[in-house]
Amino acid sequence: MNVLVIGGGGREHALAWKLAQSPKVQRVYVAPGNGGTALDACLKNLPITDMAALRDWAIAHKIELTVVGPEGPLAAGVVDDFRAHGLRILGPTQAAAQLESSKAFSKAFMQRHGIPTAHFEVFSEATAAHAYLDRMGAPIVVKADGLAAGKGVVVAMSLPEAHAAVDMVLVDGAFGAHPGSGEARVVIEEFLTGEEASFMVLCDGKNVLPLATSQDHKRLQDGDAGPNTGGMGAYSPAPVVTPDVHARAMREVILPTIRGMEKDGIPFTGFLYAGLMIDAQGQVKTLEFNCRMGDPETQPIMARLKSDWVDVLWAATEAAGSKALADLELQWDRRTALGVVLAAPGYPLAPRVGGAISGIPKETDEVVVFHAGTQFHDGVLKTSGGRVLCVTALADTVKVAQARAYDAVRQIQFEGMQFRSDIGFRALKA
Ligand code: AMP
Ligand code: GLY
Repeated sequence: MNVLVIGGGGREHALAWKLAQSPKVQRVYVAPGNGGTALDACLKNLPITDMAALRDWAIAHKIELTVVGPEGPLAAGVVDDFRAHGLRILGPTQAAAQLESSKAFSKAFMQRHGIPTAHFEVFSEATAAHAYLDRMGAPIVVKADGLAAGKGVVVAMSLPEAHAAVDMVLVDGAFGAHPGSGEARVVIEEFLTGEEASFMVLCDGKNVLPLATSQDHKRLQDGDAGPNTGGMGAYSPAPVVTPDVHARAMREVILPTIRGMEKDGIPFTGFLYAGLMIDAQGQVKTLEFNCRMGDPETQPIMARLKSDWVDVLWAATEAAGSKALADLELQWDRRTALGVVLAAPGYPLAPRVGGAISGIPKETDEVVVFHAGTQFHDGVLKTSGGRVLCVTALADTVKVAQARAYDAVRQIQFEGMQFRSDIGFRALKA
């Protein structure tokens, strides 16, 4: 069959790479793809970014299965539209994607369904928000409502920082919504401590299939310092998710979410990603929901997957409750996979792109380099986005996986290349 992956980042390269390994697949199209998907003979890039045009193309080319990588097209309703035209597509509807696209929606949803999360209040009016901050004190967390590509969250260690974050959203109108229109909103929530993990499952509206656990490194610099980014590296599995924590996350977060969505009349289909905060007692709280797979978590997760990914995604797009998904058992490589992101200079605020990339090692059973912000210009591979590559290595221990990934990193060059040198450090302590 012919399948289509929507997106052009590292996550989409990894999804397409895995799909192409299935003997059932003839061609994997990636729209728009990147330099890495262009290089791979099993994949074909499609320069179509308009979703209506892509849907017409999918109909004309008899695409049997489409999978959506990023949140943007999901929040814009790509799944509703493809389905309305009789196409098989994996992802949540626009209504269900609100779990990610609106913090106010997801927090109210969690409260309504008793899903553990930080205490919070929602404000559209700056004076009331400032008064609330003064009452609560710091540290405290201010989140812009709406999609903000990971930039809408300020973990304020002091009150002046928190007040500034409120003004940025409600007075200056950063993140799009017009201030004073009632559309610009902030969620102000309790500061949680503990260790974070990314918990992803696949849903058909009713049944749930957990994927391997993972952990991401959101801050730019070593030791979790510096600004938040889309993610500077990830590894799978995450030792912090013990069997007990796993059971708890399923019981207290994932299953009530899937049942709650069903009850609310907006069944969830596709990948559900719960960002969890796990405290020293193993208690789990939900920091956020994403309605897609994580980037860069997908890269190590796909590197470990042994099952036929087409079979899995096909089962997830069967009618809700058909049991196809419930009957699946995923096979994982027992090794740890660890991915180090190489970012462009100036990332995350103002990445400078266009630098020539050299030295990417050939894929082996132990190392695979997934591309994100890369593009070919006149036959030369160049940087084209903030996160450029994710160098992913497999090994029996975290320590060796880390050493192997950094050995490969040292072979790669582009001007101003930034990366963290401590990816996996929490798992090394475990
Ligand atoms: P979010 O997009 O809501 O996951 O927030 C981005 C990052 O901010 C998370 O991965 C956490 O590192 C941090 N964060 C979010 N909410 C909280 C919270 N309530 N307490 C502490 N840190 C938080
Ligand atoms: N790596 C975090 C995310 O995909 O949201």
